[in-house]
Amino acid sequence: MVIQRTALRTMAHVHAHAVARRLYSTARPPRVLVTGSLGQLGTTMVNTLRTKFGGENVVASDIKKPAPEQRSGGPFVYADVLNYRALEQIVVDYGIDWVVHFSAVLSAAGERNPALGLSVNIDGFRNILDVAKNHGLRLLSPSTMGAFGPSTPKDDTPDLTVMRPNTIYGISKVHMELLGEYYAEKYGVDFRSLRYPGIISADSPPGGGTTDYAVDIFHAALKNNRYTCFLKHDALLPMAFIDDCIVGTMQLLEAPRDVLTQRVYNVHACSFSPAQMADEIRRLHSPEFAIEYCPDFRQAIADTWPRTMADHAARSDWGWNPVFGTADIARAMLDKLRPVYAAPNGRTLSAPVEAALAQ
Ligand SMILES: NC(=O)c1ccc[n+]([C@@H]2O[C@H](COP(=O)([O-])OP(=O)(O)OC[C@H]3O[C@@H](n4cnc5c(N)ncnc54)[C@H](O)[C@@H]3O)[C@@H](O)[C@H]2O)c1
Repeated sequence: MVIQRTALRTMAHVHAHAVARRLYSTARPPRVLVTGSLGQLGTTMVNTLRTKFGGENVVASDIKKPAPEQRSGGPFVYADVLNYRALEQIVVDYGIDWVVHFSAVLSAAGERNPALGLSVNIDGFRNILDVAKNHGLRLLSPSTMGAFGPSTPKDDTPDLTVMRPNTIYGISKVHMELLGEYYAEKYGVDFRSLRYPGIISADSPPGGGTTDYAVDIFHAALKNNRYTCFLKHDALLPMAFIDDCIVGTMQLLEAPRDVLTQRVYNVHACSFSPAQMADEIRRLHSPEFAIEYCPDFRQAIADTWPRTMADHAARSDWGWNPVFGTADIARAMLDKLRPVYAAPNGRTLSAPVEAALAQ
């Protein structure tokens, strides 16, 4: 597992260059702080930001201890988002211009520990927002399809609709969206947000969400050729591949303020169910791949989320344009993870994995 994680992180650096090539260039690099940078999305985001703006201009932070290679590309600092003064000190010491706020307790983790979800997602966000207000920072803080709820229309869910989520995660994200908009109106804070679907990545493990199965299924397929899914076979949910997620996040982060007609945007790429992804794995990996379904409490969360989201505003305002569909995601995940699982048996390794194992 240690070898697999190291190999994945090494692949993540190579991957960041591919993602950064899809982005346009900026003349004067901003100094960016990323909170929660050791999470599923932070790892790729930091690598992409550093490729674009230079390692020293991107301060990675978290409350976890980074692996050695996660310290090497630029500054890493301990930052608990519950501590306003500590956040302020980092902003002052490093001359921060922009914050990408990724610290959060996700949907399933929030239902397991509601008190933690409330404190990190509400109190932590309030601290970040106040730092942004007091120091004139641009703030990008993602929201989620989990901000919608059981009474929201499920198909082609628009940006503006009924939002009455019944999870701590959803409630805290609606709070985040509204407070961000309030600070933008009242104090001129440059707050930006996008409602991600489930994000699928091979570079780092998912952090406790309802769509984690769509990452786990590939590891299980390559390890054991079988998977027990915690959602029902037909739980159709919006999803996006990490490359599209990071490119879109960079586009919104860098967009000129005056092109934004709203502060919070839906972003949609594709929708699939566990059974549909299992079919793709059978087609691309092994016809014998077996899946069984043992739905747990996460199915009740999935039941309240949209099947598809309308994202016209993101496309027309700042160029959201995902390129990975369901089959592309399956192919990309299998291609990335095959060498990692082949390694212990001594089969062919990709160059970055080989380099990681040689260290
Ligand atoms: N991954 C997805 O599929 C997905 C989908 C929708 C929205 N999002 C949003 O994207 C953002 C990043 O998500 P992710 O998947 O990388 O999450 P993750 O759970 O993988 O990572 C979150 C990080 O926050 C850190 N953290 C927790 N408490 C903290 C604290 N008190 N101070 C500082 N850091 C703390 C954790 O150590 C972790 O590294 C979150 O806002 C999340 O809500 C993610």
